[in-house]
Amino acid sequence: MRSCWRSAVATRSSSISRPRPIGDARWRRAELGAQPDLTAYRLFHGDAEGAPGLAIDRYAEVVVVHADSAAVLERWLPEIREDLRDFASAYVKVHPRRASRLTGQDMQQAAPAAPLWGLGVHDVEAIEGGVRYLVRPDAGLSVGLFLDMRDVRAWLRGNARGLSVLNLFAYTCSFGVSASLGGARRVLNLDLSRAYLEWGKHNYRLNRLTLDERDFVYGDAFDWLGRFARRGERFDLVIVDPPSFSSSPFSVTRDYPRLAEAAARVVAPTGILLAATNHAGTSDERFEAWLQNGLTRAGRHGQLAQRWHEPSADFPLAPGRTHPYLKVRALVLD
Ligand SMILES: C[S@@+](CC[C@H](N)C(=O)[O-])C[C@H]1O[C@@H](n2cnc3c(N)ncnc32)[C@H](O)[C@@H]1O
Repeated sequence: MRSCWRSAVATRSSSISRPRPIGDARWRRAELGAQPDLTAYRLFHGDAEGAPGLAIDRYAEVVVVHADSAAVLERWLPEIREDLRDFASAYVKVHPRRASRLTGQDMQQAAPAAPLWGLGVHDVEAIEGGVRYLVRPDAGLSVGLFLDMRDVRAWLRGNARGLSVLNLFAYTCSFGVSASLGGARRVLNLDLSRAYLEWGKHNYRLNRLTLDERDFVYGDAFDWLGRFARRGERFDLVIVDPPSFSSSPFSVTRDYPRLAEAAARVVAPTGILLAATNHAGTSDERFEAWLQNGLTRAGRHGQLAQRWHEPSADFPLAPGRTHPYLKVRALVLD
């Protein structure tokens, strides 16, 4: 990236005559941008910062622009080009209502493989808390690292020492990498996509972690939870971070209590269940009720150890919203 922060300051000083939501947001991120071990964070959270339906993520020298519709993207394109022109490349993603149903040509249209500007970038290395992650800006709607989970990854680095960890819905294994770097005894990453698990192995290698192929397991989370329970296999920490909807088929609103139950059954005594959802339509209370319901059905009792929402520094709360969209709980089970 070419002199990113100087340019943000310049944008700020020329913003007196008309509002510049994106330029101003960059100014507010100056502290995050100055951290030497952080090159990946949300640069603009439009719902809260003056452009509903638009969000922009920074991964080192690349920006990824997410829009709720083509009209939103169109509306903000001039500002995006002007206020982010010092980034080497930009990619756009136009999110449909049900992303899990997108295939082929529709996906190409929603997430073009070619950049909006700059050279094509297949791989970029992003750094968060000194940890390296492989990000693929041209990979589809999700590029490999969910930035709103930064605090959870930091907690895993600080709290996983000596634990056996089951990382369900592992995606590119960012939680697995964090727990391993935190000294976990073993981390089993499980996902329904072989391609994501391969990507996860890249992330292990990037961080010079020893890699055991047996710890990257392909399959359905429910199937495997049943298998672990039957075999009497237990883990000190079980992570569940499912998609809101998936063609597997999974739906948070229908299936979370059942998932919490199955996960709780394989948590070792005094172990931790770390459960998450980014489903914006679900309140904290409802999420906690799902967890409680699952624990009761599994015959377990849980004590809240930690809770997280999206980090407020780069994911500010939109005006009028009563609760953050990301809900994460760490529960110690008896
Ligand atoms: C929201 S992402 C998880 C993000 C991840 N925890 C992280 O923070 O990087 C959801 C993942 O769940 C996987 N998935 C969807 N349905 C699944 C299922 N039934 N069993 C296992 N994995 C599934 C998808 O392939 C995807 O990688």
